[in-house]
Amino acid sequence: MLQLFVTTFITIRFLDVIDVLLVAILLYEVYKLIKGTAAINIFLGVIAFILLGVFLPSWWNDVPFYPTSPPVITHLTQMLPNDCAFRFIDCGCGFGSVLFQLAKKFPRGTFIGVEVSPILAFYGLLRSLLVPNVSIKWTNLWQEPLSNYNYIYAFLSPEVSEQLAIKIADELATNSSAIINSFKLPDSVSSSLSLNQVKVSNDTTLYIYRCL
Ligand SMILES: C[S@@+](CC[C@H](N)C(=O)[O-])C[C@H]1O[C@@H](n2cnc3c(N)ncnc32)[C@H](O)[C@@H]1O
Repeated sequence: MLQLFVTTFITIRFLDVIDVLLVAILLYEVYKLIKGTAAINIFLGVIAFILLGVFLPSWWNDVPFYPTSPPVITHLTQMLPNDCAFRFIDCGCGFGSVLFQLAKKFPRGTFIGVEVSPILAFYGLLRSLLVPNVSIKWTNLWQEPLSNYNYIYAFLSPEVSEQLAIKIADELATNSSAIINSFKLPDSVSSSLSLNQVKVSNDTTLYIYRCL
């Protein structure tokens, strides 16, 4: 599944290659500096802790971490109202980047993120302390009731689409929208919902569900 996700969604740009190279060089320089000292064990321990903390929970839950692309955030911006209060949830919010970008543009909105990976959630939670209209919870989205949100956003994986469809069909409130990035919900489970599709780019479509 991970393989499918990566080939479908990662478009590697020249800048990304430079980015990866710079980080690799930086890490190698740090490694050279502390090689042969006790600090190397701490350094490797910290790297392993971060990698395991970010990626293990995602693998357990069949959903790898991958951030929403800027064009999708632009589309979300066009969908949200400027003239009234609303509640928006990102189901599996990663570092919370979608929430923080939207929260700046929509001060009347309340933005909530749930994230199962403790490191991602902790980073988002710390950042949210400085942003009054964002809150991030370290919790499993399957335990979060969705009925009191006006906008439900999810960028997950095909593996959990059926479970997500059942949850949304059960909990989506009248006049609310569920915006699903890339992975269409199975028709068999979402037949009680209306569907609109917005093609954002060649490889990204937003599926927008509302109650019939
Ligand atoms: C594809 S990433 C999207 C991240 C974020 N929404 C964004 O667009 O930048 C999916 C995220 O969902 C999280 N996740 C997976 N299963 C979850 C679950 N059951 N409950 C909460 N978060 C979950 C993963 O850890 C990962 O950070």
